[in-house]
Amino acid sequence: MEGNFSYHNPTKLYFGDDALKYLSEELPKYGPTVMLCYGGGSIKRNGIYDQVTQALKQAGKTLVEDGGVMPNPTVEKLYEGARMAREHNVDLILAVGGGSTIDYAKGVSVSAWCDGDPWQKYYVEQQEATGRVIPVGAVLTMVGTGSEMNGGSVITNRAVGMKIGKVFGPYAYPKFTLLNPRFTFTVPQYQMVAGFFDIMSHIMEQYFSGTDDNTSDYLAEGLMRSLIHSSRIAVRNPQDYEARSNIMWTATWALNTLLKCAKRQDWMVHMIGQAIGAHTDATHGMTLAAVSIPYYRFVSQFGVQKFARFARNVWGIRPEGKSEPQLAEEGIEALEAWMREIGVVMHAAELGVTAENIEAIADSTLIFDAGYHRLTRDEVVKILKESL
Ligand code: NZQ
Ligand code: ZN
Repeated sequence: MEGNFSYHNPTKLYFGDDALKYLSEELPKYGPTVMLCYGGGSIKRNGIYDQVTQALKQAGKTLVEDGGVMPNPTVEKLYEGARMAREHNVDLILAVGGGSTIDYAKGVSVSAWCDGDPWQKYYVEQQEATGRVIPVGAVLTMVGTGSEMNGGSVITNRAVGMKIGKVFGPYAYPKFTLLNPRFTFTVPQYQMVAGFFDIMSHIMEQYFSGTDDNTSDYLAEGLMRSLIHSSRIAVRNPQDYEARSNIMWTATWALNTLLKCAKRQDWMVHMIGQAIGAHTDATHGMTLAAVSIPYYRFVSQFGVQKFARFARNVWGIRPEGKSEPQLAEEGIEALEAWMREIGVVMHAAELGVTAENIEAIADSTLIFDAGYHRLTRDEVVKILKESL
């Protein structure tokens, strides 16, 4: 492996059917006031809200409710939550939901006592938090982002057309996360498969870089194979506990900083996807799906050996008699076929991308140079056009 790294992940996980039981073990570690963050109401309909509030009552906590966290949480909501957390002098933020709710809770945790504008400081300038940070705990109800065990927090500012992720240090990771695969059974199919593709994308973003022999790439291949296998079962039967639990665990490992050790990483699919999200408010995983095939078809020429390895080791494509570019193309074809099979969005036009807003989306795309090729703005436009 090339490069130096440190690895530190402080999030404690409780996994399985009984996970929520352990909330009562965690709550006494924090002060009396708990801010409960959740989304648009799914947890009220599926009964998770009742279970969580009962545990909070039993632990004698004072509840501050902060519902209505929207998918792709906005900067306006962040300001509102930060004000609420400060006014109530909150001791713990408990996020019950998917990546949006957990990302938002982390944003509130570092913003409540921030001097200055948190959007500018953390998201635009990418600074670390230096003041008081309110601890966050999480109950995951939707699988995909990995937010349950990382420092990521993605906030959208529609007014300036930017959706920016800040990866905070371990100080902002959830202190604990409860992972019950059964809690994900009520996620609508569209969101479920968007989450599956988000997981795949996180792994690919970390896999498609470098030419060294790296343990992280072997881990990535194993996770991708497990995800592909279980996703095929889950799309046919979303209630299959074995498949959903494997996918939940894969999602957590896909983006909890393990796979990136000694890796340069790419992340351009996410940068283009986030720019689409900033302009259309589309579902995160679907924005990634819509641009992935044009993106990988274009960049595979710059990292052909890795794309050929992807074909062999992830998709089981036989290499005999084939050139590396041929294998690379077959790997991308296999990826595309799997995407169609699980039913993700293959055309950005379905998400609100049009010939008219492509230039603005390209302007909102942050460009990194850590993958196999540094995109130019024109290449971003070309990929977006091909994704329509
Ligand atoms: O809001 P409610 O009513 O809860 O409904 C949600 C929402 O509509 C619903 N849902 C969640 N759990 C459910 C459920 N519906 C029924 N039953 C359940 N058990 O699903 C919808 C989507 O939820 P959301 O949290 O928005 O999805 P996701 O987990 O995909 O999170 C997306 C956000 O995470 C960011 C994305 O950019 C996006 O803003 N990301 C965060 C990352 C991180 N922290 O590292 C990395 C990712 O790449 C990603 O960027
Ligand atoms: Zn993602």
